[in-house]
Amino acid sequence: MNDNSIMNDIERVLISEEELGNIVKRMGEQITQDYTGKDLLLVSVLKGSVIFMADLMREIKLPCNIDFMAVSSYGSGTKSSGVVKIIKDLDQSIEGKDLLIVEDILDSGRTLNYIREILTARNPKSIKICTLFDKPERREVDLYADYIGAPVPNEFIVGYGLDYNEYYRNLPSIGILKRSVYTEE
Ligand code: IMP
Ligand code: MG
Repeated sequence: MNDNSIMNDIERVLISEEELGNIVKRMGEQITQDYTGKDLLLVSVLKGSVIFMADLMREIKLPCNIDFMAVSSYGSGTKSSGVVKIIKDLDQSIEGKDLLIVEDILDSGRTLNYIREILTARNPKSIKICTLFDKPERREVDLYADYIGAPVPNEFIVGYGLDYNEYYRNLPSIGILKRSVYTEE
């Protein structure tokens, strides 16, 4: 990548900045309704969900805490390796908390399934999953999100925090990556 025109690698914009704003606002309103009177802890799964987390938390009109966790499920490519390991754990105890896991995209479901299992073992009061995007066709484990921003087609998408090879996270909209970017010439 030797220039700043990341849009050159984008086949087309799938979801605009404005649409993203509307999706996140709607999710925030729903979460605000559902978590009134609860002890909400938002857990963002790094790094893909940081932009979503930053926008979502400002649409939640309730007292809440945030924390971050990092796991690796993908190497540098576009396919799941099936290997999930904790790179960074939470800073606090989650016992008695109403946990909402904030993810960027639910693909095979392996990553979230693993995270949910280990966090459930720590006795939160409740645990739910909030994902901005869902690729239901790709699911390999039995996992459903409680909050879904939008379903997306079985294409590799980037932007708004989502990467390919750690790039494109700073794209403000969601774009479909040109296949030529990740296939051999
Ligand atoms: P899963 O374990 O297969 O569900 O993978 C989930 C993770 O894979 C997400 O948190 C993303 O980091 C990554 N991922 C899956 N699909 C895409 C995509 O289309 N674009 C960018 N990252 C993706
Ligand atoms: Mg990722």
